[in-house]
Amino acid sequence: MYYIGIDLGTSAVKLLLMDGEGKILNVVSREYPLIFPQPGWSEQDPDAWIRESFSGIEELTAGFDRAQVAGIGAGGQMHGLVVLDEDDRVIRPAILWNDGRTFEEVEYLNGVIGKETLSGCTANIAFAGFTAPKLLWMKKHEPENFRKIRKIMLPKDYVNYRLSGVHCTDFSDASGMLLLDVEHRCWSKKMLEICGVREEQMPKLFESYQPVGTLLPEVADRLGLPRSVVIAAGAGDNAAAAVGTGTVGEGACNISVGTSGTVFISSDRFGVDPNNALHAFAHADGHYHLMGCMLSAASCNKWWMEEILKTADFGAEQEPITREKLGRNHVFFLPYLMGERSPINDTNARGTFTGITMDNSRADLTQAVLEGVAFAIRDSLEVAKSLGIDIRRSRICGGGAKSPLWRTMFANILGIEIESIAAEEGPGYGGAMLAMVACGEYPDVRTIAEKFVRVTAVEKPDPELTALYEDRYRRYREIYPALKSVFPALIG
Ligand code: XUL
Repeated sequence: MYYIGIDLGTSAVKLLLMDGEGKILNVVSREYPLIFPQPGWSEQDPDAWIRESFSGIEELTAGFDRAQVAGIGAGGQMHGLVVLDEDDRVIRPAILWNDGRTFEEVEYLNGVIGKETLSGCTANIAFAGFTAPKLLWMKKHEPENFRKIRKIMLPKDYVNYRLSGVHCTDFSDASGMLLLDVEHRCWSKKMLEICGVREEQMPKLFESYQPVGTLLPEVADRLGLPRSVVIAAGAGDNAAAAVGTGTVGEGACNISVGTSGTVFISSDRFGVDPNNALHAFAHADGHYHLMGCMLSAASCNKWWMEEILKTADFGAEQEPITREKLGRNHVFFLPYLMGERSPINDTNARGTFTGITMDNSRADLTQAVLEGVAFAIRDSLEVAKSLGIDIRRSRICGGGAKSPLWRTMFANILGIEIESIAAEEGPGYGGAMLAMVACGEYPDVRTIAEKFVRVTAVEKPDPELTALYEDRYRRYREIYPALKSVFPALIG
């Protein structure tokens, strides 16, 4: 049998076709535009996700026996607000996870409602990208639209809805709405009340590996797939990537270097960071995780390469950054191109190059960009360390993980072993694995992860280089506190 994994990303949907042994048979990627209506705002048209996912599935399965497709599972960009009216039409473009417009709503939630109340209800505090502040923003700025809302959902849930006709979500993705009581895996009545929404407007909750239904007959016919294809609830992209990289069980860690950058720490037990710098979310394996999320990771490099250096050859730009240059760069880059979430929670933070002198080359700045992202990931790892979580190794996935240079930087800046795995398609691979569990092929997520996921290379930290980077990191840590009060004035 075949299983389709959907990775509904921010710049593209990546689809993969997997066989019953976990072998990837085909991969298709289709881009869609990201809309920035104002600086710091970020939106997307949900119908573009559907168009590209559906035609992508047709392309993915062309040339294969479509009758063998048994299940579909998606991992999707988290937190995006998708609102449907009473005819199940999208009311406005989705407001995405990296949108920073809700500054005032976040102040209200964290300041007036209070962090303790929020954390008590949901295990988390408000961050600009989370869904609840966006609902408050809509209520205030688009009351007409707000009144029209019949269903609220997250990006991959809209895809699942259009595939199956079921208004559903899963616990891992729902955790990022700030509307879910994460510990007890149910909607928080208090949070719904604070945001002015009713429980019937919320989608039905499932575990990620549960089936929500089967393909709608008209969709099955259009895609040429059997009507019996099972749709798994799926997961937020980070939880799906964790499944895809085998990051399940106590203390397992995955670093994702995609548009966002995340440190995902799996746990069998529910736990909250007392300072709420790390998110406390449900995992797709039925348990929990802590996560630090930076808003711009591989996207910093993409921006630097494409927008500034005007090149598509990322590898060629990294060539001059030889081993002896590592740990010695005196240019630093703050990767806050969309503000920042973890751990500083500052929508006003901005990207900067600092420490440039006349002798610096283009390659030094490229190096600073790559290192700045790794330093910012370390900031979240430091928070985990302060909670007594001892991380010695981590899996890595996402577009940035393909660069051997960047992997070396991560190993030495974080001082941990970085494990690459055979299937690089984290969320898509995890999505297909969830579909297999939903189809009853495996009893649980852990069993399939143990069977399917294979480490292919380990990048070990080198003590000398780690020491050099320790010094660089100490210096890097000085920059943001020194600039913090300057950023709001720059924005005006
Ligand atoms: C996680 C987060 C991002 C998006 C990216 O909290 O906001 O990782 O899920 O797709």
